[in-house]
Amino acid sequence: MNRQVVTDSKIYSITAREILDSRANPTVETQVILNSGYRAIASVPAGASLGKYEAVELRDKDPKRFGGMGVLQAVRNVNGPIASKLRGMDARDQHTIDQTMVTLDGTTDKHALGANSILSVSLAVAGAAAACAKIPLYTYLNAIFQNYYKTGINTIPTPTFNVINGGKHGTGNLDFQEFHVVPATAKPFSEALRIGAEIYHSVKKILIYRNAVHSVGDEGGFAPDLFTNTDALEMIVEAIRATPYRFGTDVFLGLDVAASHFKKEKGYQIKDRPASFSGKEFIEYFKKMHEDHRLLLLEDPLNEDDWDDWKSLTEELGKDILIIGDDLLATNLMRLQKAIDEKACSAILLKPNQIGTLSEFFQVTALAKKHEIKCIVSHRSGETNDSFIADLAVAIQSEYVKFGAPARGERVAKYNRLLQIEAELNLN
Ligand code: PGA
Ligand code: ZN
Repeated sequence: MNRQVVTDSKIYSITAREILDSRANPTVETQVILNSGYRAIASVPAGASLGKYEAVELRDKDPKRFGGMGVLQAVRNVNGPIASKLRGMDARDQHTIDQTMVTLDGTTDKHALGANSILSVSLAVAGAAAACAKIPLYTYLNAIFQNYYKTGINTIPTPTFNVINGGKHGTGNLDFQEFHVVPATAKPFSEALRIGAEIYHSVKKILIYRNAVHSVGDEGGFAPDLFTNTDALEMIVEAIRATPYRFGTDVFLGLDVAASHFKKEKGYQIKDRPASFSGKEFIEYFKKMHEDHRLLLLEDPLNEDDWDDWKSLTEELGKDILIIGDDLLATNLMRLQKAIDEKACSAILLKPNQIGTLSEFFQVTALAKKHEIKCIVSHRSGETNDSFIADLAVAIQSEYVKFGAPARGERVAKYNRLLQIEAELNLN
């Protein structure tokens, strides 16, 4: 009987192909089939506002195909060396499988095989193993995560909705990348989703009323032509007030500043004032913004290399606001350890493709949890309809999930998956 089970979960085949993501760019999709016939498909997302310290996404750079964005080499890496190494291995042994790929790649940033090829296999292996065990993916992932950190599944993470897209995701009008509405943590997920959707519609109505652009950006939020970043925040507050939800009680504000992407030599240059801000001045600016608008989440408010400024900001605002490191930490164990030692932030954005394997993702998450760093599992701006990260967020019991606006198929695929899990676990 035992022998039968072991044989069943061995990897029979691994096949990758080039598919499209939500931005019409190629990405990698991989199918893993086990000897038992159980199988899973996983695809990987892609960022636009990449952090300097992320694992490397392999692109063909052939200008004759997809403007250089093709991933045929990454696909070949899966179908060739990765598949031949992993064939016959037990899909339940995620750690060994991931470690084998890390060793095969042999570089610290995975630039040899590509984090995109490696991650697609890592995720599809887990999916196939869960299918073979006939248990939901979140249950299976939680069981693996227990090896790194003990946690049961008691709750669905709180969603944070990106309703206005600026920076690299917008049309170039706003400097800040994401303007969020965050329902109160106490709300059941289905209610939080409804709050997000109703406020999203309220924002749209205001933009139409003002004759402002109301087409959407990469993550499904609106990308309006407003005068300043503060205008966007004020408009969201106005939109919340036009709904039955109470600002500061039922729903809060969040920002992903993505500051590394507009810091110039002279400092932080934004349209809210002609002169650029020094690090110190920018911290004062956020203090004032918090006094005026009550922020709950503040992601990448400063450049990814300015550790001293991060420390000062966290010291001054960290009690009131979750200070989230995305580009700062890049889901990287060493960078997280440094942030913990230096008290540089209080939360981490967790993106599987910043690190490249599920096992390393779990390692980083466990370190965060041991040090009470809050966790936010995140999509990328270029996505597919794969909802793996919804199961992953439940499995590790992250405090928040960031899957974009409550609109556009590739975003709602993840939110809708959380609705299914909520119902399955009877958590509403
Ligand atoms: P990206 O943006 O996926 O384009 O990198 C997401 C983020 O900065 O959080
Ligand atoms: Zn970010």
